[in-house]
Amino acid sequence: MTQTNPSDALAQARAHFDAGDPSQAAQALPALMALEHPPLGVWHLGALCAETLGDLESLPQLIQCSHDQGVVDADLMVRLSCYAGEPTAQGDGDPWLLAVASGGVLTLDVEPASDPVMLVSNLLACGQEGIVERLLSPRAQSLAPKWVTQAQSAAEALSWEAPDTRQDWIFIGGCPRSGTTLLRAMLNAHSRIYAGPETKVFRDLANIRDRWDRAPAHQAGVSSEMLDRAAAAFSNQLLSEWGQGFPRVAEKTPGNLLHMTSLARIHPRARFIHIIRDGRAVVNSLMKVNWSNPTTGKSLWYCESVGKAAAYWAANIQQIRAQSPGPKRYLELRYEDLVSNPEGAMRTVLGWLNEPWDPAVLAHHLAPQELPEMETSSSDVAQPVHTQANSVWQQTLDAQDLAEIHDGPAGKMLVELGYKQATPRGQVSLESLGLGF
Ligand code: A3P
Repeated sequence: MTQTNPSDALAQARAHFDAGDPSQAAQALPALMALEHPPLGVWHLGALCAETLGDLESLPQLIQCSHDQGVVDADLMVRLSCYAGEPTAQGDGDPWLLAVASGGVLTLDVEPASDPVMLVSNLLACGQEGIVERLLSPRAQSLAPKWVTQAQSAAEALSWEAPDTRQDWIFIGGCPRSGTTLLRAMLNAHSRIYAGPETKVFRDLANIRDRWDRAPAHQAGVSSEMLDRAAAAFSNQLLSEWGQGFPRVAEKTPGNLLHMTSLARIHPRARFIHIIRDGRAVVNSLMKVNWSNPTTGKSLWYCESVGKAAAYWAANIQQIRAQSPGPKRYLELRYEDLVSNPEGAMRTVLGWLNEPWDPAVLAHHLAPQELPEMETSSSDVAQPVHTQANSVWQQTLDAQDLAEIHDGPAGKMLVELGYKQATPRGQVSLESLGLGF
């Protein structure tokens, strides 16, 4: 009897695999793996068979053995990271899958490299429904329609129903004068998103709900969960009527994110975008607008002085960051990035939101917009995106103003956010003297 040489046996197994018969391929592998000198690629084929047959428990070890043999499959590694729920770049592995599964930006014009039926079945078997949702999203459809149709059929065959994405509300917030209105107008220009004028309703609702969530209501039999459900019913109804006709709705009220913990609980599918701007530009802008209380006519406390405005800015950011519900639901965006690289910034935002790219967001000033006179930013937002407001503070804030900002909590926050370098002890900062720029 002639013995098949191990390399030929592996080639035969590979042929079975390529012909769509992973079980037949897998049968030959244990004997080859047990050899003193297993043929090159045997563990890799083993990993592919295990993955196709849905044996995800063995997969990490088979991949490791394949790596030990020097055979690295970057596409397979990306899939493994998806099965683990943390899509991660692996060399040049499947950039399409990585970008769509992670909500990241897709910089290359590429097709998906993985089999849609196998991928969806395995992801559902691992409980990675969130990633399946992303793979079937309108964004994925716009990028690879045929692949997504196959993936959809696989999900349907497994009786998987995509959740109702209507309640994937988007809340935009941040310290006032950070570019919140500009971001909402840019999103509003997207064909699938409604982002109308500031309502203040959802911020206030979360606030009131929290005020009610105390002893008197509890003693009367109104539990925290009942308050959540009631707030959700009210809020969902209002948001869906407000954004009727649009698949996604974004509401911008700067204070929204100060109530993110409550809003995130009331709306378990909502996402939050925090727009952050250099505190010195924000302080300068707050001094300029000098908002007052309409009843008393007195300046709002944080518009009274540079020091108060700076403290307000730092406290806003600190309080919002402390409430982050994690990177899947909370995104920080820098105003400076938005205005200096609008396409890059909006691609990041839309990828993260799972929405297809729409170039209309770059021409928000040409899209139909509701810009009420009572909103301070309306006339600015009617303009195309510009970078002129980036450096105005450098001309208007004097050395004393800057010292007041840098020496208080805002100074630390500027360093934390990378807007300013830390000043080593004992050194006088040129910036604080207004000479650094
Ligand atoms: P300045 O007051 O420094 O000019 P918000 O809407 O959060 O209150 O933010 C207001 C800031 O956004 C203003 O800053 C304004 O200039 C800036 N902004 C509004 N529209 C803009 C646009 N089209 N391009 C760049 N910045 C814009």
